[in-house]
Amino acid sequence: MTESRRNSKPETGPCSGLSPVARRIRELSVRAWGPGRAVEIVGESEPVHLLLRQIEKVAAFDEPVLILGESGSGKEALSQAVFLLGDRKPFVSVNCPQYQDGNLTVSELFGHRRGSFTGAVRDRKGLFETANDGLIFLDEIGDLPMSAQLMLLRALSSGEFKALGSEEIQRSNVRVIAATNRSMNQLAEDKEFRRDLLFRLRYFLIKVPPLRERGDDWILLLNHVLEGLHQRYGVRKRMSNAAMDLLAGYSWPGNVRELIGITTSGYAMAEGDTIEPLNFVDALEEESGVSSENRLDVLSRRLVQQKDSFWDLVHRPFIDRELNRGEVRQLVARGLREGGGSYRGLLKRWRMSEEHYQKLMDFLRHHSLKPRSSRGE
Ligand SMILES: Nc1ncnc2c1ncn2[C@@H]1O[C@H](COP(=O)(O)OP(=O)(O)OP(=O)(O)O)[C@@H](O)[C@H]1O
Ligand SMILES: [Mg+2]
Repeated sequence: MTESRRNSKPETGPCSGLSPVARRIRELSVRAWGPGRAVEIVGESEPVHLLLRQIEKVAAFDEPVLILGESGSGKEALSQAVFLLGDRKPFVSVNCPQYQDGNLTVSELFGHRRGSFTGAVRDRKGLFETANDGLIFLDEIGDLPMSAQLMLLRALSSGEFKALGSEEIQRSNVRVIAATNRSMNQLAEDKEFRRDLLFRLRYFLIKVPPLRERGDDWILLLNHVLEGLHQRYGVRKRMSNAAMDLLAGYSWPGNVRELIGITTSGYAMAEGDTIEPLNFVDALEEESGVSSENRLDVLSRRLVQQKDSFWDLVHRPFIDRELNRGEVRQLVARGLREGGGSYRGLLKRWRMSEEHYQKLMDFLRHHSLKPRSSRGE
């Protein structure tokens, strides 16, 4: 890293670090969704240029796209970019793990007729119908229940589907974009995901490089985030050289999302206009890198599949110092995300009964294990 790039002041406000395609994506997003939901893909490294070129190309087609990448690397932002650069409307987004139950997922995607299952009190239109002529984003596709996988395969092969409890064949012209940070090949190997569906989905396969493989992009991103905070809160702050040195050696296991979190907490905690390591060092994951990511994948899967209880799998190892605070925080953050953003959702996702709620909250609070981004309870 050269001295001149350290804390280099963005030339053109929060848009700096955006390549011409990225600027177009930003403009289109502001036009479609307003400035509050601008899609910004900052980066000038070769892998990001390549990524944007791929996105630009696939946007013009109708076939499915599968986006793979580590947590927080920008999969959702890129799926939005594919939508924005293409000419389909609308953009409909589905979080696959949100509905644990196969029926509910099928109903969400394809609709249901009244009485087709307990609780189906009236007919319901599915998202495939809503998204007709547009694009449907299936986030965390690796968690799609088996019954929904079969329906999706049919819809992708023939464009036809039936609502739950209905014999009527419906047609929909929908482009599918799916994303996940799980290994789809492994899931297929473990018979948790249909291989035929995987082949259909990966018509275009986009691999998002982790932040640690994007050269000095982290500096651009960091300045971009600081500029955004300056515009929002009116105070300009910079990272000290010591802070930049510390971050230069960091491997960003949580990728762009983690960088945004660390920069923001450093900005908030800094006393004056300079952010020092002590202002954000607690937010860094103690153990970083791919191995930690895989370990979390395994823990997360075991919790979701109820192979072990949270108390055996996470609580005890944390108390015994085999799991560190950063890892538990990441696990909780993932549980929250997959549970729809609330701790009750997380409890359900981890198959824990309601009576564990207070004990879990006390444990997380007592050991400061709540991820910084988590809102209420
Ligand atoms: N290249 C980038 N430039 C600027 N912001 C980015 C970039 N990539 C991602 N972001 C931002 O980082 C955050 C995380 O990105 P996103 O939600 O797309 O990641 P993801 O891969 O879908 O994560 P997860 O696996 O956790 O679902 C978002 O706030 C997004 O706007
Ligand atoms: Mg995502």
